[in-house]
Amino acid sequence: MKKVGILGTGYYVPERIVTNADMEKIVDTTDEWIRTRTGITERRFAAADEFVSGMGAKAAEMAIKNAGIAREEIDLIITATITSDYSWPSAAVLIQDKLGLNGIPAFDISAACTGFVYALAISRDMIMAGSYKKILVIAAEKLSSIIDMKDRNTCVLLGDGAGAAVVGESLTDGILSAVLHADGSKVKVLYQPAGGSAMPATAESVAAGLHYLKMDGREVYKQAIEKMPLVLEEAMKKAGVNSGDIDFVIFHQANIRIISSIAEKFGWPDEKNIINIQRYGNTSAATIPIALAEAIENGRIKKGDMVALSAFGAGLTWGGAVIKI
Ligand code: UT7
Repeated sequence: MKKVGILGTGYYVPERIVTNADMEKIVDTTDEWIRTRTGITERRFAAADEFVSGMGAKAAEMAIKNAGIAREEIDLIITATITSDYSWPSAAVLIQDKLGLNGIPAFDISAACTGFVYALAISRDMIMAGSYKKILVIAAEKLSSIIDMKDRNTCVLLGDGAGAAVVGESLTDGILSAVLHADGSKVKVLYQPAGGSAMPATAESVAAGLHYLKMDGREVYKQAIEKMPLVLEEAMKKAGVNSGDIDFVIFHQANIRIISSIAEKFGWPDEKNIINIQRYGNTSAATIPIALAEAIENGRIKKGDMVALSAFGAGLTWGGAVIKI
């Protein structure tokens, strides 16, 4: 079996900052409610002509540069997204074309907020098996394209952005574990009802707002707070480490209350908890790779650090990983 590691990371967030004060002008909400219930102060919304493939390609360029490799060394592209430019084909082929890497395989995976951890696990196994040597993993979302700006329960939570990692053969073990789960019995607590084959677009479906993201926040909260610690335990056990060995933890950035309470349960102080929800909100699959790439860029996470990842999202899906940078 080959050893696998993260060779480089990158991220991109759109320029436009939308503050809680801006949201107060759109829906019946307050900065105080948003900050205290979620931890979010502002989020980024992509421009009208900026889509998942463009944001993903920018994050990917940075990851390739930071990996110190020639882009031609990439032999597979996997993109995690639920808001690709088109329903099909994949965002991965659009990003591939933007990077000038046509010819190699490229595909998307749909695991919502857990998408990056799913893609990481898939790429790890493919490299371990010797099928590929350097896989470009991208998680990118334009959630502003599926937000109902009249629904205060969801519109204040979400943002746009992209994160990327080059996963490749390495001399030492860099991805010590990656564990995945899903429970398809709770699809409707977080989903987009229309636009798929069950409910193709009609004038009625658009008028009824069925192409927007719908969430039962309380139920998702309950599930997330239960599943994320379990998957962290499982990932650490598989990696052969315990919570005391972890230098940093990166949770899916959906709610500061979820993140802080789980970190506290494991005895991880704030200094170990990488949090950027205040600046970007919930960017679904992109939250973890953006936080990882930013923390490496600003020197907070350094070579040799042990980092635990934990994600939860629509599906329901959840996953965890332990990586050594
Ligand atoms: O990324 C995928 C995973 N997603 C998650 O993990 C999200 C999990 N869920 C959550 O983070 C939280 O449930 C929310 C942030 C979505 C909501 O927080 P909450 O503390 O669970 O609030 P709630 O849904 O229980 O609502 C409490 C009140 C309600 O009013 P009433 O019914 O008690 O009168 C809501 O209508 O807060 C109201 N509310 C708001 N008020 C002001 C809901 N959204 C807003 C808002 N501004 N934006």
